[in-house]
Amino acid sequence: MPPILSTTNLGKTYRSNNQSVDAVSEVSINVGSGEFVALVGPSGSGKTTLLAMLATLLESSNGTIAVDGYAFDQMNAKQRARFRREKIGFTFQDNNLVPYLTAIENVELMLRLNSKYNASTSTRAKDLLVRLGLQDQLNSLPSQISKGQQQRIAIARSLIHDPRVVLADEPTASLDTQRAQQVVQIFADLIHEENRAGIMVTHDLRMCKYVDRVIQMVDGSINRIIETKSDIDLLAGTSEFDKLSAPELIK
Ligand SMILES: Nc1ncnc2c1ncn2[C@@H]1O[C@H](COP(=O)(O)OP(=O)(O)O)[C@@H](O)[C@H]1O
Ligand SMILES: [Mg+2]
Repeated sequence: MPPILSTTNLGKTYRSNNQSVDAVSEVSINVGSGEFVALVGPSGSGKTTLLAMLATLLESSNGTIAVDGYAFDQMNAKQRARFRREKIGFTFQDNNLVPYLTAIENVELMLRLNSKYNASTSTRAKDLLVRLGLQDQLNSLPSQISKGQQQRIAIARSLIHDPRVVLADEPTASLDTQRAQQVVQIFADLIHEENRAGIMVTHDLRMCKYVDRVIQMVDGSINRIIETKSDIDLLAGTSEFDKLSAPELIK
């Protein structure tokens, strides 16, 4: 089966005045249907830049990205925006919830923008929020709930329009460990059950327990890919990045 998401030699160079930073270079990855991947690596290693390119929010400098066989670089801006609305779901660190809409309205908004709002929309929005533990906050405004609850609304919103690709940049950063594990487990289930391709950036290696593959980035490039269940469990049992160089994980 062809991958849902695939990149070839993907790169991004930020240029300003006479400075240039190679934030991402030569990244080639494939993520298949129902596959959930964690992206880890030190701060500044290019994780957010990579995710933003995959979300079509940032133009690449080199290489290609394709989703469902459609290459981003062959689309014009309008086609790309439409593709993003229909095929891609994302949560970034600042959730950007609309302050005057309730939890459920924030989730439904994605479908209203896509003109795909119908009778079953509210039900699906509600189901997702309940599954993420927000049954008591369905009608709350973002200002009335915690940062962690806002983060879970953003996760529900990223899934409501049935996207092929789901991207999340540190989706559990505001959650305590127990809640974070619950949320990532549900997120993983939704990716597996609904055959999406999922990528989650996380600084918390314990969250790797729920993924199928871990990609470690260093200085903008892929440094290591960890994909056997036993190695992933070993990694999830460590809590520090320097343990990533534990001899048993070096292949
Ligand atoms: N808009 C930008 N302009 C210039 N440099 C940037 C910009 N965004 C990120 N960078 C640089 O690109 C590199 C990768 O950053 P980033 O993708 O945010 O990494 P991470 O998410 O892994 O912390 C860093 O050196 C960062 O300083
Ligand atoms: Mg980042």
